[in-house]
This record gives sequence, C-alpha cells and structure tokens, in this order.
Amino acid sequence: MLIRRNGEHWEALAPAKLNLFLEIHGSRDDGFHELDMLMVPIALYDSLVFSLTADAEIQLTARWAMASRCMATLPAAEDNLIVRALQLLRRKIRERDSGFSQGLRVDLVKRIPSAAGLGGASSDAATALVVANELWQAGFDRHALAEMALQIGSDVPFFLTATPARCRGRGEKIDLIESGSSLHVVLVKPRVGLSTADVFSEYQRQGVSDVVEIDSALAAFGKGQAGSVGRNLHNRLVESAMKVAPTLKKLQKDLADLHLLGTQMTGSGSTFFAICHNACHAQATAKTLSARGYDSVFNTRTLSRCAFSPAWFEKIQT
Ligand code: C5P
Repeated sequence: MLIRRNGEHWEALAPAKLNLFLEIHGSRDDGFHELDMLMVPIALYDSLVFSLTADAEIQLTARWAMASRCMATLPAAEDNLIVRALQLLRRKIRERDSGFSQGLRVDLVKRIPSAAGLGGASSDAATALVVANELWQAGFDRHALAEMALQIGSDVPFFLTATPARCRGRGEKIDLIESGSSLHVVLVKPRVGLSTADVFSEYQRQGVSDVVEIDSALAAFGKGQAGSVGRNLHNRLVESAMKVAPTLKKLQKDLADLHLLGTQMTGSGSTFFAICHNACHAQATAKTLSARGYDSVFNTRTLSRCAFSPAWFEKIQT
C-alpha cells in the first residue's frame, strides 16, 4: 500500500493482487485449507482517505470510481472489512486503555471489483489497520498487526506489505520474493462474482487430487521470465469455480484462443488474467477482449516493492 499525509487527512492506495500459483495441501482442523501460493500486487487500486472524527464513531462512505455492470453492490458498513478491522484495532487498544474513545472516518473509492479473487476488501482492511495504528497512535508492531489481520481474513496479512510473496498456511506465513521485474497482465472480471467459501466447499465435494509443487513458478517469477511464469501458472480452485459458475468455461476458452503467454484464474475467482509479452501486447489483448463483449477488462502490471513511489500516487489519484 502507499500512504501519505495530506494536512489533517491521510490518503492511501490499496492494491489488488493476483495468485500466480495456488495449491491446496489438505484441509485443517480449524475448517480452513493449507495453502501454498505465489501472490503479487498489481497496479489496480482502491483509494482511501482517513480523517479523525470529533466523536467516537467509525464512519465509512464507499462508492465505485466508475459505473459498470460488473461492480457489485457494496456491502453494508458493518459487514465491510474496513469497519471490522477498525473495530478490532480499537478493542485491542481498549484492552490497554479502557478510556480510549477516538473515532475515524474513512472515504473509500473502489476500483477493484468485488467477489473477484483480487483481494480488494482484504487490501482495504490491511490499509485501515496500518493507517489507524498511526492516527490513533496505537503503536502496535508488525507482528501484532499481522495477528489482527489474520482475524479479519486469510489474505489480509499479505496486504500489510503488499510485496510479491510465497504465502503458506491459511495465507499468513509470508516469505517475500525479490523480483525487480514487472509483468504486463490483462484481467477480465466476468459479470458473475464468486464467494470464496462457496468455491472451497465445492473443492471439498470434489475430493483431493495430486498436488503440484510451487518451485518452478517461484523460480520463473524470481528471474522475471514472463514466458516461464505463464507456463507455470496454476490454480487448484479453477475446476471448483467453474462448477459453481459454469459460464467461466467460456471465458477460459476465449482467453486460451488468444495464444497468450499464460492464462489463469486468480484466488477463488471469478477474475481470469493473462500474461502478455509487453505493454503493446497487453493493450491489444485488452482491446480484443473488450470487443468480444467483456465489459470489465483491466490492462495493468504486477508491482515489486520499488513500485510504490509518491509519483505513482499522483498518477493514480488523477
Ligand atoms: O479467511 P477468509 O474469511 O477470507 O476465508 C473465507 C472462506 O474461504 C473461509 O470461510 C473458508 O471457507 C475458505 N478458506 C479456506 N482455507 C483458507 C482460506 C479460506 O478454506 N486457507
């Protein structure tokens, strides 16, 4: 995430993510699954503005940056992960200081589609934890914030750093990956959205298959070899997602017909993405997909740690 102070407000950009690799290594006693994933942030952001309030209220306003049929109704404030993250942080502060009564207002502008496997709500929640920890002068360290993040959702710890990483366990065992390279990717969010819980339930019904090891995908990404990254894309949940939403098969086929470096679904879907040779190839691919009637197509790129510079902030905000 990228955060800057602007007078009395704090402004932040919360990036989306792609799963370049997702394998399931069995189910756990707590009802979750043991995962092995390669997750990378991408240059598609929600914007958040944080302001201290005069009262103890936690307030959230939310709107889409642009209207599209693919943009779902935003969840009610109390169901939004930002509000749940702020309430959890405030409870933790009150365990040390029972008189703490500060509130916070968050104005959210969404660009990351929901129910899409792109982690938008998780990224927003991680950003809220980091900014409120500063604004409320709570002083929790990285480990404490990571514990709170996992209570909010399995993908939230990844977004505390939002840097390419191998994520294991529920998603919270994070090993950062050094890679200076940026991949050109095109995303297609179909009209159908998917619930993560539904897709995992369908996977449970289907039963276990042989696992694919992550090593080749990690090696390809570390070396920044787009072709090899494309050949090693993997997502164990894709069959389950297509059972829940059979229309995804057409999207998968449409992408396969374009002979891209590689295509795959991200997370529990429903977004699919394609790895392209370069910026021109990505632009042409996005144009072709839009012409075929897909109305939520994003031409973007993966981010490495160094991508989060103030210059980017200016560019995205405008
Ligand atoms: O943690 P989160 O709330 O994002 O998880 C949503 C759902 O996804 C869980 O209720 C569970 O069904 C499934 N899940 C899982 N194993 C994981 C992560 C998520 O089974 N590691």
